[in-house]
Amino acid sequence: MKFFVDTADVDEIRDLADTGLLDGVTTNPTLIAKAGRDFKEVVAEICAIVDGPVSAEVAATEADAMISEGRTLAQIAGNVTIKVPLTWDGLKACRTLTQEGTMVNVTLCFNANQALLAAKAGATFISPFIGRLDDIGLDGMELISEIRIIYDNYDDLTTQVLAASIRSQNHVKLSALAGADVATVPPGVLRGLVKHPLTDKGLNAFLADWKSTGQTIS
Ligand code: E4P
Repeated sequence: MKFFVDTADVDEIRDLADTGLLDGVTTNPTLIAKAGRDFKEVVAEICAIVDGPVSAEVAATEADAMISEGRTLAQIAGNVTIKVPLTWDGLKACRTLTQEGTMVNVTLCFNANQALLAAKAGATFISPFIGRLDDIGLDGMELISEIRIIYDNYDDLTTQVLAASIRSQNHVKLSALAGADVATVPPGVLRGLVKHPLTDKGLNAFLADWKSTGQTIS
């Protein structure tokens, strides 16, 4: 499974990219607003740091305008992935941009039929929002499983399942178990994946015992 980080904070991205474990980045208008910086400038900086797909979302709601914005954003770098919302206009824009060779991430997916349409429109990625479904009392993870089954039923549906709106380490594990191709994870949750109290406890004990031997490795 690939790991994307879900942020527009360039310093965070640079730091996480240093681990060598980062496969891509997703942004959205809320994250860009939070960064408080020029959108295209931020996307260009991220693309210079990360080789993998970097999602940048259009602001238009009508297909022709989405396509035009998508083309503008795609010129920033070869790894820009255009994010379009899951609407009829978004799907039309997805079809056109995909045919032009641009990667497209269809976002705001909340049911399996929407995911089926996105795949038929040629999306590179479909983004089902797990956390926001959980927020309204539904099971976000069930949607990941359903989409996985549907896509696996048809050889011509090659869209990658990008588990989004992830809120916890458990969401990451469950996404992997459900067969998501990618998880886009907030920086804090990504950093938390490495943590376990028994790892810390075990390491402290090993270090103390090693010190007691008086040896060095050289
Ligand atoms: C995905 O691409 C979205 O940017 C993101 O995962 C949304 O997460 P949220 O529901 O926590 O805002």
